[in-house]
Amino acid sequence: MKILSIETSCDETGIAIIEANGDFENPQFKILGNALHSQIDIHKEYGGVFPKIAKREHAHNIIPMLQKAFEDASVATEKILDKNIFEEKFSKIEKILEREDGLYTLLKNFTEQNGIPKDIDLISVTSGPGLEPALWVGISFAKGLSVLWDKPLLAINHMEGHIMSVLLEEKLENTQNNKSIFPALALLISGGHTELVKINNWGSYEVIGKTKDDAVGEAYDKVARLLGLSYPGGPEIARLAKKSRSEGTQDKIELPRPMISHEGFDFSFSGLKTAVRYQIEKDFPEITEIPNEYKILIAGAFEESVKDVLIKKTREAVEKTGAKTLIVAGGVIANEYLRENLEKFSDEDVSVHFPSIKLSTDNAVMIAAAAYMNFLQNKITPTDQIRAEGNLSL
Ligand code: KG4
Ligand code: ZN
Repeated sequence: MKILSIETSCDETGIAIIEANGDFENPQFKILGNALHSQIDIHKEYGGVFPKIAKREHAHNIIPMLQKAFEDASVATEKILDKNIFEEKFSKIEKILEREDGLYTLLKNFTEQNGIPKDIDLISVTSGPGLEPALWVGISFAKGLSVLWDKPLLAINHMEGHIMSVLLEEKLENTQNNKSIFPALALLISGGHTELVKINNWGSYEVIGKTKDDAVGEAYDKVARLLGLSYPGGPEIARLAKKSRSEGTQDKIELPRPMISHEGFDFSFSGLKTAVRYQIEKDFPEITEIPNEYKILIAGAFEESVKDVLIKKTREAVEKTGAKTLIVAGGVIANEYLRENLEKFSDEDVSVHFPSIKLSTDNAVMIAAAAYMNFLQNKITPTDQIRAEGNLSL
């Protein structure tokens, strides 16, 4: 079946189209289109994502993304020739789209020119967690398309999308005597979340640990800001930390490893950011411009601390849950050093899986994969009950 998915939970406007086949144990996916527009350049000016601006940008960019996804996937369309039917369909969705910054008119123009797709079977959209005004753009748009195209709509949890991102490019299997891949453990590390999740089966999740304050990605972004680096901080810090390791200076500055000796699987990263701030204030009480060599030292030390904490907590969680599979997903796993270190769990008889770097940060393809798995389980929310849930948990 062909699935179109929409992702607008934060600062990426994504529309993807995939072909999904196979059953629950052996799903197969083919990515046909993956249109993604990043708002980073706009949010950079403010040093973070502002929900109102994100909402406006999603509404501006979602139709061009739909157009691109249609082109990439060579979607066959047909025009609605009967003027009355066309107007009747649009009168039904006017209310749904009225709050979304002109999206109603944009969709009307798009449909007039392109018609509606002949072979999309299912529509899916992220309904949370995320920024509610941003989520609503995707949800309203998806509801509109569902009425217009007369296709079912599924609401998807963004974090389940990150988990399912590992299914898109490889087959997950436990090759040792055909053993099950479950229980599995997911380490989810993104800008908004840091969670350890026990997966008993696809769709059956138990959050066993999470951050008490800042998420890992948030800590990267905040430390980057302290160093005067641009948003998002993850890639910037990663670049400097790599330099620090190549110069062998990653242990020069000592930073704390928050919660590393605490029992349980919770994290805390706000203290690490504060420790960085104190360290900078101590070393440069008066200078406002921090020298690049010093930024490299801090980035190296910060990344070591993050790595140590993630590895320690994940190791304990693998042992406690008896996980046979480790899935690491979320934007922060675009980080090569963390990848390298987490990969080492495979020496301990755990099969380790990451999405490719491209599918690590937010995208709509992962939402489509999760939609297929939900569809196979008949997990369908009635369309009129779908709403943005900023704090939706797994
Ligand atoms: O999953 P994601 O795209 O969006 C959320 O759902 O939050 O994650 C974005 C986060 C940002 O905090 C960004 O700084 C971080 O992922 N990130 C990285 C790297 N690339 C992106 N963090 C560390 N190293 C990277 N290479
Ligand atoms: Zn995300």
